[in-house]
Amino acid sequence: MIWLEIDRTMDIPLIRQVYEQIRIRILDGELMAGEKLPPTRELASHLGISRNVVIEAYEQLLAEGYIEARQGSGTYVAEGAFLNQQKKKDVLSFVEIHQSEENANDVIDFRSGIPALNLFPRNTWGKIAKEVCLNAANSVFGYGYPEGRAELRYILSQYLKRMRGVDCHPDQIVITSGATQGFTLIANLLLSAGDEVIIEDPITFEIQRIFTSKGASLYPIPVDEQGMQTDFLPQKKKPKFIFVTPSHQFPLGGTLPIQRRIELIQFARNADCFIVEDDYDSEFRYQGAPISSLQGLDPDRVIYVGTFSKILSPALRLGYLILPPSLIKQSKDLKWYMDLHAPSLEQLTIARFIEEKHLERHIQKMKKIYDGRRKQVRKCLTEAFGETVHISGDSTGLHLIAEFKNRQFTDQTVAKIMKEHKVKIYPVEHHAIQKGVHQNKVILGYGNLSTEEIQEGIDRLKQALV
Ligand SMILES: Cc1ncc(COP(=O)(O)O)c(C=O)c1O
Repeated sequence: MIWLEIDRTMDIPLIRQVYEQIRIRILDGELMAGEKLPPTRELASHLGISRNVVIEAYEQLLAEGYIEARQGSGTYVAEGAFLNQQKKKDVLSFVEIHQSEENANDVIDFRSGIPALNLFPRNTWGKIAKEVCLNAANSVFGYGYPEGRAELRYILSQYLKRMRGVDCHPDQIVITSGATQGFTLIANLLLSAGDEVIIEDPITFEIQRIFTSKGASLYPIPVDEQGMQTDFLPQKKKPKFIFVTPSHQFPLGGTLPIQRRIELIQFARNADCFIVEDDYDSEFRYQGAPISSLQGLDPDRVIYVGTFSKILSPALRLGYLILPPSLIKQSKDLKWYMDLHAPSLEQLTIARFIEEKHLERHIQKMKKIYDGRRKQVRKCLTEAFGETVHISGDSTGLHLIAEFKNRQFTDQTVAKIMKEHKVKIYPVEHHAIQKGVHQNKVILGYGNLSTEEIQEGIDRLKQALV
């Protein structure tokens, strides 16, 4: 009798579990062509599951050609379904994947940029999504336009004007699959081999890669506690664009003051280049007055990139670009080539979510919760490390920077801390272009951690660092 692992605690239906495990064994050659499979009744009783489950799994395997039924004789593995797996261990079974996720539960993960996943407004979102699905016109279920739904672009233009001082017409908006697709679209639109991008240093490693993958080189400008140090802008350079995170520099957390914003715009005007403004988590501001977007200061020169990943959930994969009029047509063409358009039902759902003011209410609610978590990280760090830690970059957003005296954090040291103490922290140095400047700083994201988890995480960090 073949041995299959059945796990009733998993979200994966039993039919799928049976089907997938037999399929993998056939592909791996563990079950060979011509081999007889156990009768459905026997396998079902052996596994303690309903016979219908086994019948349906067999039917699926039959339909896909992995097995064949022989009249009056039973079910056999079909010829030609064996694929020599070169990296056999890479093919994880559902059970293995499930277990590795479970094992991760005892780790306290200070990953940045993750909102409180257990506080996603499931009820309201679910209710609106259902209504949208039931009431939307039939045409919504067909292909849409690359720039996205007009309803969402209109609501978004009003919301951003009110909340972020963004000055745009709905026609300047292209809805993307998160900010990340926006960056890729901008890179495809503006960059070719040999071009230069002026960029904050440090800055998210993944964003660096998106630009360098087009053959562009990065000209790093150092960052201090107020963001990009505009004094270092190279007056003779002609970059394709300058990339900034002015609301909450990633990772160091500074907010760019108005004087530096103006310098930046003047530089871009002289160099005749664009500015890409990544406004990824500006909504959660805890101290000081909110500063309006750069885009509002020069809408013809600034490409504004926004996302719903931090204010709602990264799983939505919804973001947007606000483009200067000169780039609208090409951007829509590129979006079309990338994936035609963002999912229409989700766009309509979020449009209503914003229109009915649920988004603003959610932000207000979450801001209080995140502020409590931020204060908890500050308190626990100070209690644990006293004068040896300096905390910065926490006036906005979902992470802060802890800078330790006489410490160095590399990818290897944090991996060791994670293995031995089950706490995951993230070195700033990983995101640095000029290496060696930020080795004593780590990024601590707190959006998805409760105050108890924060306390436990910092306790573990203390044990790791004593
Ligand atoms: C600096 C920065 N901008 C934007 C994003 C948002 O990415 P996305 O909208 O694709 O989820 C991230 C993700 O963590 C980020 O680190």
